[in-house]
Amino acid sequence: MTSQVLREARKYEEAAEKTIAREDRPAFHLSARAGWMNDPNGFSYYDGKYHLFYQYHPYDCQWGPMHWGHAVSDDLLRWEYLPAALAPDELYDRDGCFSGSALTLPDGRHLLMYTGVVKEQQLNGTALTNQIQCLAAGDGTDYNKYEKNPVITAKDLPEGSSVHDFRDPKMWQKEDGTYRCVVGNCTLDGDGQILLFGSEDGFSWSFRKVLISNNDRFGRMWECPDFFRLGEKWVLLTSPQDMLPQGFEYHNGNGTLCLIGEFDEETEVFREQHDQSIDYGIDFYAAQTLLAPDGRRIMVGWMQNWDTCDFRSQKIAWFGQMSIPRELSLENGRLYQRPLRELETLRWGKVVYEDLSFTGKISLDGVKGRMADIELVIRPEEGKELYQKFAVRFAQNDRFRTSLSFHPRDSILKIDRKFSGSRRAIIHQRRSLVNSKDGCLKLRIILDRLSAEIFVNDGEQVLSAIVYTEQAADGISFYAEGNVHMDVVKYDLVTDA
Ligand code: FRU
Repeated sequence: MTSQVLREARKYEEAAEKTIAREDRPAFHLSARAGWMNDPNGFSYYDGKYHLFYQYHPYDCQWGPMHWGHAVSDDLLRWEYLPAALAPDELYDRDGCFSGSALTLPDGRHLLMYTGVVKEQQLNGTALTNQIQCLAAGDGTDYNKYEKNPVITAKDLPEGSSVHDFRDPKMWQKEDGTYRCVVGNCTLDGDGQILLFGSEDGFSWSFRKVLISNNDRFGRMWECPDFFRLGEKWVLLTSPQDMLPQGFEYHNGNGTLCLIGEFDEETEVFREQHDQSIDYGIDFYAAQTLLAPDGRRIMVGWMQNWDTCDFRSQKIAWFGQMSIPRELSLENGRLYQRPLRELETLRWGKVVYEDLSFTGKISLDGVKGRMADIELVIRPEEGKELYQKFAVRFAQNDRFRTSLSFHPRDSILKIDRKFSGSRRAIIHQRRSLVNSKDGCLKLRIILDRLSAEIFVNDGEQVLSAIVYTEQAADGISFYAEGNVHMDVVKYDLVTDA
């Protein structure tokens, strides 16, 4: 049964979408159908299509009572909107359907698990939220909330855990057919932890253990966990709030964390071996993965940062987009991310420059655009002194530019979108320590109208950033202090060729 609240949201979004021109959105990144989008939810392959839901407030470009928006795709690049899947229309989720995940049941239904939020007004005028886990099952378009909701509540929590910060369940099915889910939580004093729950049938859930405790290392409350096998290891992705920077890691406040380690499926003990940021740019949060039918582990994140949402002085009809889906692998103990290989099917109009040697500022015939895939290999001029600086500037005209600059001596790659149209004094730069031997560096830059994602050294690091620049600013130029040797391969990315 579709509730009145959901029917209204569906009617509203259908009309609102029509007021947004296709050119005013990213071409191959999923953006909010109307209004506000945050975290990816229910990222899954179901009934022959990829499904991506998202935290959604259709009525406004500000965060508000959370619905689940919904889109499907054959290739994870060309998205078709479906009607909103969930609305806050029950007593137990009346203040929001927060983040969650999806899987396919043996009877063929698509099962969603999400966090139901209820606010309790306090005597001092503030509100406390209580968070519980709920289910909805459906056919890929319409979902029925489970009559026995909620399925995981405060009484399932181990002693000393917060009932106010208990959210974002990520479920998976084990090889033996039973289910597990990880949920973000914190202790009573706010220190992040990930709880593991188990189920025989996907509907009746019980607490198993605290899978991982922060112990005051990486930020505070841990949101949006995901936990999966990758090759020989297991990976925990989570988005801790209020992180302190450590060297060049964790600069984003509410940031991202990847823990790599060993997991014994019998004892359910996780042994951490390595930690790193997931993304080293400005805008990336709340990553979620799926296992594709061909075995690839594919991740998307919300391409925003809670601290930089405040650029909205301009009149806009939608806010929030996802990152490009990224294929994950582990190499030398690190998480590697490569742009989804299907992106190559959008490539058009190849332009190649090999062994270009230059100093000062240059632009190259055929190298421009705001929907582009650009591969750069940079190295020093043989026999010459190491160059001091390399930069590539894009989304550029007389007024605007976003730049990526590299200083080989300290191996720092910097993204700077100060001149990208933002009228707010929010963070516009991020420095990242990258691996470079003798000034050699490999970059792949994916541009899609309003964003740039920079894949460094074949996915060893990624820097993502939103750029607000008007589309007329489509120049690309290169700059070198000292002598730089460069190979360039550039394609336009076209979704409707
Ligand atoms: C993370 C988050 C989640 C929550 C959702 C609410 O960005 O705070 O923890 O479920 O957003 O929209």
